[in-house]
Amino acid sequence: MTGPEISGPEPPHQLTLRQPDDWHVHLRDGAMLQAVAGATAAQFARAIVMPNLRPPITTVAAASAYRERIREALSDGCPFQPLMTAYLTDTIEPAEVERGFAEQVWVACKLYPAGATTNSAAGVTAIEAITPVLAVMERIGMLLLIHGEVVDPAVDIFDREAVFIERVLAPLLQRHPGLKVVLEHITTADAVDFVRSGPPTLAATITPHHLHINRNAMFAGGLRPDFYCLPVAKRELHRLALRAAATSGNPKFFLGTDSAPHGRGAKESACGCAGIYNAPFAIESYAAVFEQERALDRLEGFASEHGPRFYGLPLNAGTITLVREPVLVPQRLHGNAAAGTAAELVPFHAGETLPWRLV
Ligand code: DOR
Ligand code: ZN
Repeated sequence: MTGPEISGPEPPHQLTLRQPDDWHVHLRDGAMLQAVAGATAAQFARAIVMPNLRPPITTVAAASAYRERIREALSDGCPFQPLMTAYLTDTIEPAEVERGFAEQVWVACKLYPAGATTNSAAGVTAIEAITPVLAVMERIGMLLLIHGEVVDPAVDIFDREAVFIERVLAPLLQRHPGLKVVLEHITTADAVDFVRSGPPTLAATITPHHLHINRNAMFAGGLRPDFYCLPVAKRELHRLALRAAATSGNPKFFLGTDSAPHGRGAKESACGCAGIYNAPFAIESYAAVFEQERALDRLEGFASEHGPRFYGLPLNAGTITLVREPVLVPQRLHGNAAAGTAAELVPFHAGETLPWRLV
């Protein structure tokens, strides 16, 4: 973990926040869902659940069934609310998207440029192909969540987000001025600037890992697959811009963990999967950043208020409490043995001690 040393006034010992939501999470399915759902539900009241399953969630029926499986994976009476998303393809029907929104099955659509990341092969090959869908979303007030990277192999992987903004996102906002857009898991100063100076219909989520690590982390002392995710972490100057944005109090920036579990074997392999599993210590991870930036008074806005306001959803009534006590993050987490999964997961911050503990 990196960040400035704290000096000056002592931080408070205890922090009570309105309960946060996670505006971007991968809960997976089957045994992995059983293993990870509880970690998200333990911290967050609601979460925007990504639809990049195999096969992806492209129908109202599939989203509804998946929502049911998520509820079943949690203990009886758990109040956690999964907010479902539709996976956009070149051929998804505008009427299907509209029906799922009207029936309150899904709240947003996710745009994966085809080939950009995990399980995105069925994604959109050319944004123009989905203009009718976007027009419907604009009309009904349904949010578009974007994985903002071009897939052009000629573009350097560290430039894919900035090039996406220029080639795809800026023209898209021009074509659909009423469409609400969240640029997901931003990783660059370019994205921060674009969102900050963009229209009020544009916001962004920021992950804990992009606030803590820069691209060096992937190569520190050898190849470190646990720090590999997409969009990939960038240079230090970008991390600093993200920290400034997250802790600024600007309501265009809010919490989205992009917690993306892959079993240890799938990460530590010749072709390791992209994704960082940060759900079990997510709010603790963000709290560490806000403390380092001496902005703990702005954590609640980022974690619990800016997201629901942008989505047009009520703020949570409940609270969580963090105490300033060290918490050691385990090196490994095992799946839920009772559910019969053996997937071993390496959590973000494995082996580190974080300064705030969730009570
Ligand atoms: O690192 C990532 N993992 N980025 C994504 O966009 C997808 C995610 C996953 O599903 O594993
Ligand atoms: Zn994601």
